[in-house]
Amino acid sequence: MPSRTFLSLYSHSILLLILSLTLSSSQSSSSYDCENEGCSWETVPPVCGVNGVTYANECLAYCQNIEIAFIGPCSESGSIASTPYDDGINATISIMQRFQKENFMLTERRNLADLVLPEYNPTFHSEMRKDEIPLEQQPMLWSRFTSDGYVYTAVVTDESNKRFLQELPTNYESHNNRSLIIIGADTRKIVTNNHNRLPYSPIVELDYGFGNSEGGCTGTLIGKSSVLTAAHCLYNFGRKEYTNPLRMAPGRYRQGTSTIEPHGLFGFRYSTIFSVYQTTGDGRYDLGVATYNADSQGRFPGQLAGTLCLTEAATQKLTAETILAGYPMDFPDGNLVESRGCKWRLENGIISHDCDTTGGQSGSPIVSSMSEMLGLHIGYDPNAPTIINTALGWNNATYSSVYAWAPDARSCPDRRFCSNCPVLERSLMRALCSLVCRVFGNAE
Ligand SMILES: *[C@@H]1O[C@H](CO)[C@@H](O)[C@H](O)[C@H]1NC(C)=O
Ligand SMILES: *[C@@H]1O[C@H](CO)[C@@H](O)[C@H](O)[C@H]1NC(C)=O
Ligand SMILES: *[C@@H]1O[C@H](CO)[C@@H](O)[C@H](O)[C@H]1NC(C)=O
Repeated sequence: MPSRTFLSLYSHSILLLILSLTLSSSQSSSSYDCENEGCSWETVPPVCGVNGVTYANECLAYCQNIEIAFIGPCSESGSIASTPYDDGINATISIMQRFQKENFMLTERRNLADLVLPEYNPTFHSEMRKDEIPLEQQPMLWSRFTSDGYVYTAVVTDESNKRFLQELPTNYESHNNRSLIIIGADTRKIVTNNHNRLPYSPIVELDYGFGNSEGGCTGTLIGKSSVLTAAHCLYNFGRKEYTNPLRMAPGRYRQGTSTIEPHGLFGFRYSTIFSVYQTTGDGRYDLGVATYNADSQGRFPGQLAGTLCLTEAATQKLTAETILAGYPMDFPDGNLVESRGCKWRLENGIISHDCDTTGGQSGSPIVSSMSEMLGLHIGYDPNAPTIINTALGWNNATYSSVYAWAPDARSCPDRRFCSNCPVLERSLMRALCSLVCRVFGNAE
């Protein structure tokens, strides 16, 4: 079936009717016993639901009460795997309904063994194929991937989310390149005592499920179990596979030749990203949330290491005191490094900066002098003249997605007093103000 005709099918119910007649004559949908048998992953082919979501097979759509628009994936460069992972175990109704409260439906299954490491790969322009439905006409979907290999999809109905970053400029370009981006001298400094003080303790290192390698990406605890990071740390666009951010270590540091996990290691539960990142790799959607389990004593990482609150990036908050901190690949394992005194430029919610960075620092938070998280480092733009590194800041639309993925996250209190700190004229007052706000700012 030609998937490019999706939109016209969508709007032409007569065609839909013909298609569903074709469908029911090829296989009777009502033959599925959802409650007792569930759906086999052996069933092919994938189908496109009338909601614009691709399901691995018609049984999954049927059992989740979705009418089928046509056979085949909704989009040619769709996010669906060519063959779902099948270990002979059917998808049961309870697996399908695992995230029903949040409107996620089960859509496919992947083999954890196939998962790949993250790669530096955001492309800061939309790589839309000409034969595809324009981005703004596609339904906005969220994709959730669980540690046991199930993929769930939610159709976003909230208006501000549907608009999301489509309003942002598309003139950012980037390359597959995880080389060092050191501008002038390398001014990154190792942070000491990062494990027991803000804003550092909620900054985490994501470890991947391959070999013994430590690290791979940086993230930030924004809720007791939620880590905000780059989408390319959770999904490898080049390989079209999810990554397995197996474990996460908040406040990790290096002591002598070993690394210390002062708050322990936490196991991965699921990750949530924009489906459009899977199909386009568009850097404007390069953010996601990984959710982690409690430790064996039932303690959540954010309860032990603390969390950072989110606040809208504003020029007056991007000062010489603003830091970018993360776990780079070119330092020995376990070193948290920070950059200070960077140049910042804020434009349409995108933050350009010249902090020194390298692979592993993807997902690093940009933190104001008041311990507010203003943005997330994702990559760089090789064509920019000087300020070539790129980060995503927050705006209303970003917030609403991030908060939906991380209901335990919170926004920073609106403290007019504190937001004036950086613009105070006398440096002593500025320092005092920042100190007070840093000490009391993030205390809950
Ligand atoms: C698995 O689901 C298929 C339908 O997709 C059904 O025919 C089969 O009997 C189910 N197997 C079990 C063990 O329930
Ligand atoms: C990667 O970046 C380095 C440093 O900017 C540059 O020398 C190199 O040519 C780049 N490689 C690719 C494939 O773009
Ligand atoms: C964000 O939301 C606030 C409050 O709802 C509103 O006043 C503001 O205009 C919004 N900003 C944008 C950029 O939409």
